[in-house]
Amino acid sequence: MDLKQAIDTRRAVREFTDQPVDEKTLRELIDAAIQAPSAVNQQPWSFCVVRDQALLARISRDAKAHMLRTSPAALSHHFQELLSNPQFDIFYHAPALVVISAVADSPWALQDCSLAAENLMLTARAAGLGTCWIGFAQAWLGTPEGKAALNLPPAYVPVAPIIVGHPKSAPPPVPRKAPDMRWIGA
Ligand SMILES: Cc1cc2nc3c(=O)[nH]c(=O)nc-3n(C[C@H](O)[C@H](O)[C@H](O)COP(=O)(O)O)c2cc1C
Repeated sequence: MDLKQAIDTRRAVREFTDQPVDEKTLRELIDAAIQAPSAVNQQPWSFCVVRDQALLARISRDAKAHMLRTSPAALSHHFQELLSNPQFDIFYHAPALVVISAVADSPWALQDCSLAAENLMLTARAAGLGTCWIGFAQAWLGTPEGKAALNLPPAYVPVAPIIVGHPKSAPPPVPRKAPDMRWIGA
């Protein structure tokens, strides 16, 4: 698959088969992630791979409760209902979660980690895997309890929680808005 195909066909995948993702493949995805550019070449990222399903279930439960407790007003009725549903797994029962965290207190660390995340997601797509960035996990992972669950030192900041697995099916294309553009000069 060429780059354009990977870009055009990458979708947020939320249904996975039971097939695990092996360590070699996960290392290849992380290797692609660290090829991303970073400000002043700081490479301020760290990767935590979680394949422990019991831990993923616990993070899902705690992250949902945390969001309902800390930002109920910001959540739509739909999201409040979803997060209140004990059956809803924010990780969609994916076999693996890769959390990219910022290790450096650089003003560009969020951008750097996000670029690494896109590399990882596109490489996964090219390898026939599915991914989805799980923003629902982010706030709780940033708490002292969340960092402890990932064995992260207190100064680290979780930026990109990305689930990885073998897609059950190909999600349909998600329409894009026409780009808002301003052309300046010829
Ligand atoms: C920062 C960020 C946070 C996201 N958080 C979630 C999430 O918590 N749960 C989820 O199902 N999808 C999440 N997504 C996936 C988006 O919903 C998805 O990318 C968007 O609907 C566009 O669909 P596509 O990725 O298939 O093109 C997130 C995406 C980004 C970039």
